[in-house]
Order: sequence, then C-alpha cells, then structure tokens
Amino acid sequence: MVDFGAGEPDFATPEHAKAAAREAIDANFTKYTPNAGVEELRTALAARYRADYGVEYEPQQVIVSAGGKQALYNTAMALFGPGDEVVTHAPGWPTIVEQIKLADATPVTVRTHAEDGFRIDPAAVISALTPRTRGIIINSPGNPTGAVIAESDLAIIADEAASRGLWVILDLCYERLIYEDVPHNLPRVLQERMPDRTVLTGSMSKAYAMTGWRCGWVMGPTSVISACGAIQSHATSNVCSITQRAAIGALNGPQGCVGEMLDEYRSRRDQVSEWLQADPRIRLVTPAGAFYLFPDISDLLSVDGIVTSAELAQALLTEAHVAVTPGEAFDAPGFLRISYATSMERLREGTNRILEFIRTSDRIPQLDAQSVS
Ligand SMILES: Cc1ncc(COP(=O)(O)O)c(C=O)c1O
Repeated sequence: MVDFGAGEPDFATPEHAKAAAREAIDANFTKYTPNAGVEELRTALAARYRADYGVEYEPQQVIVSAGGKQALYNTAMALFGPGDEVVTHAPGWPTIVEQIKLADATPVTVRTHAEDGFRIDPAAVISALTPRTRGIIINSPGNPTGAVIAESDLAIIADEAASRGLWVILDLCYERLIYEDVPHNLPRVLQERMPDRTVLTGSMSKAYAMTGWRCGWVMGPTSVISACGAIQSHATSNVCSITQRAAIGALNGPQGCVGEMLDEYRSRRDQVSEWLQADPRIRLVTPAGAFYLFPDISDLLSVDGIVTSAELAQALLTEAHVAVTPGEAFDAPGFLRISYATSMERLREGTNRILEFIRTSDRIPQLDAQSVS
C-alpha cells in the first residue's frame, strides 16, 4: 500500500526540540503548568510573530493549546453561539465547519474554484454576510488546496468585517510552508485594520514536524484569550509540560530545519505535479503552500463507470493499492487530495500505480491514442 493520505510531515521532529524534551523529563518538569502555557513559551511565540510579521502580542494575549485544532475549538466556543452564522470557505478542512456546529452556530461556506487557483474572492465572502454573521474563518495556506489568500483580498474582507464588528479568525497552521515568495503578512493586514477583532491560530505540527506532541496557540485580544483559557481550564488544562519545553526548543533553536523541509516538499510538489500532469485528464492547480495536491479528476468519472471521487478513491485503494483522500471529505466532490508528505520513492511508486490504473481501467473514460502525450 502506498499512503498519500497523510496530513502530517514524514520528517522527524528536529533534534533540538527532542533534546529540550529529554532535558524537561530529566529535570522533572512533569507537573501542571499554568493553564495557558508557561510564560517562556508564550513569549517565544510572541517573539516569533514579531520577527515574522512585525505584530506585537504580549504573553497574556497568547494561549497554548493542544494543537491548532484545540486552538480553533477554544476560539469557536469562546466567540460563537446559537443564532450566529460563521463564514468560511470550501474546499476546506472539515474540522472548521464541524467546530462551528459544535458551538451551536451555523457554518456558511463560500466556494472557491480551481479555475482561479481557489482564490478566496472577497466579493463572495462579503455577499455571504448577513445581520446574523458573527465571524469569518480563513485558512491560508489552505488544506486541501494549498491556496494562499492575497493580502489585498484579505484587506477588503477585513475592512468590511471591521465596519460590521465581525471577528476574523486566521488559521495559520501551514504558515511556514509557502513555496513562492508571495506576500503573506496576513497578521499585519488584520492588525492594522481590526486589532480588537483579530484572532490568529497556529501550530507546531506542520512547520516543525511535531504533530504528535500537540502544541498550537491562539493569539488575540486579552478578552478572547481569557475566554479561551476558561474553556481550556475546564476541558484539558495545560498542554503537556514536556511538549511545551520541546516547543520552546524548536522556536528558539536553529530554524534551518524548517527551510530544509520546505525545500524537500517543493521538489516533491514539482515532481509529482509533473508526473501526474502527463495525463491530461488530471487537472491540477500548482499549490502555493501546505503539502497537498488537489487535482480535479472529474474527467475520470462517468455515469456508467466510476461515478464519484469517493468511488475512485476506493478503487485506487483496493485495486491500485494507493490511499488518497476523496474531495468529498473537504466538501469538494470531483477532486482527490494527494499528500506529498512521503518520500520521493513512494511518490514515484504511488503515482505510477495511479497513472497505470487510470490508463487501463475499463471503468474510466479512455483517451484516444492521439491525445495522449
Ligand atoms: C487547516 C488545518 N488547520 C489546523 C490543523 C490542526 O493541526 P494540529 O491540531 O495538529 O495543530 C490542521 C491539521 O491537519 C489543518 O489541516
């Protein structure tokens, strides 16, 4: 089986993060910590955002949570409730919509399209706003599309949100995984326009290959952070003390590892895109960030063959022995998500299997010989 389903890095956690964790254990740093995380970690996170984006956060404006997932969950619980509408975008990471529902609010999804690179169109977001809208959640770079929102587009959304008193929540989980030199100072765009209504969530998971350690954060106005703290305090309390030390080690130590992983992901993205695009029925937008390809495979579907992308994923699993995630999981039938967080060797093998399957299956519309390049 070749697994292209992984939503996590295949790299090991950097040595200096692991060393900090070992030291924490040896020093018996194994007790409860402050609910919001140790001050050293909150200070390190604020320093990182100051260096990366030029935005100012005090440690009390930061809460450390069990991954970006709990960060977003705390935020949804703190800000949304019955009768509220919360606007987000699709194709998207399903947890965002489910958390809005867990808060008893109503998700409203704005569709983005492969034709324009899954751009989050500010006009579409604004037209989804109603008097009931309480917030807008934007994930950039996005899972599963890898699309990044343009600063100018976010600025339009922020101006409108500010004039209506809405919250804007930015899920920056993949913020360190952007391949091209595109401007992506989203925290600054929001801070300049609506500092009292900006909430940032982030994570150690993807940038530092630390998915299992469970460390994310929320940054925002103190009122939001203390509400998140109240929720977290009665749900889980602090993030594991050892994880917190590992995160401090990762943030304050050498950052070369982040760039090395990014370079490797870029080569994989380019290589796998090239392999897949050898078949013109696989239509691919080159993703600007994250580590997924999200091709439109609707040309492989037909009413009398494989009808849906979910069925295609199932056929690839059972017949070609490749695991991919169907677009249905991201509210986007007709697409497949292919994670390239695996070795080039496995990528070659899995891609070969996919291409061979779609070239030979009698349930897939075949190209006439002349159109095959
Ligand atoms: C878009 C997005 N946001 C947030 C997360 C949260 O990750 P974690 O809880 O590991 O930090 C994920 C994980 O896959 C994700 O894809």
